[in-house]
Amino acid sequence: MNAALDAPGPADPPLEWLRSGEPLEIDLGCHKGTFVVAMARQFPCVRFLGIERQRGRVEKSRAKIERLALANARVVPGEGLETLRDLLPDGVARVVHVSFPDPWPKRRHQARRLVNRAFLDEAWRVIEPGGTLRVMTDDAPYFAAMIGVAAGFPGFREADWEDGRIYPETEFQRKFAALAKPIYRLALRRCDSMSSE
Ligand SMILES: C[S@@+](CC[C@H](N)C(=O)[O-])C[C@H]1O[C@@H](n2cnc3c(N)ncnc32)[C@H](O)[C@@H]1O
Repeated sequence: MNAALDAPGPADPPLEWLRSGEPLEIDLGCHKGTFVVAMARQFPCVRFLGIERQRGRVEKSRAKIERLALANARVVPGEGLETLRDLLPDGVARVVHVSFPDPWPKRRHQARRLVNRAFLDEAWRVIEPGGTLRVMTDDAPYFAAMIGVAAGFPGFREADWEDGRIYPETEFQRKFAALAKPIYRLALRRCDSMSSE
């Protein structure tokens, strides 16, 4: 069981909140909560759950959420894959955002990358049919690896990045845009089943 559910506090999401009916979006590796907070303000009828491994960043995110009294945003501490697995029911999320996951460029560290086959399995389980996984990175080799793993995964189909919404920038997106670094984007739509066409 995830620690966030063992000791629920005002910022922790009980199962009722996760299942409460309004669309749920997840920001994995939410850093200090900039994107979660901006999205929660922009889309008051959507709930946003941030997941972040570093406690200090979780606390900073929660402080912003509390200051702005955002009832539709929560942030929990945890590792991305394990938190999806331990905390989230099947088909609970309309969108999962993964923005600038740590690239782990050294070959011996690449097993630590978040986006891999095991992650796609878990993302597929928590995203509702027709929902999307949206990934951005500035790291070309990591992006190529993501494309490769997505191509071999039958449960997602590549979708248009533009989906009619205007998204606020994430912290790292703003930083990389200011440096004029290329940003690679991948949107994957979840099929009804693992074998759907
Ligand atoms: C490069 S930053 C990007 C932050 C933010 N998504 C953005 O676009 O501004 C990566 C963030 O993900 C967190 N992180 C890295 N791996 C993680 C994992 N496996 N589970 C949860 N958080 C993770 C890091 O602590 C960091 O805050």
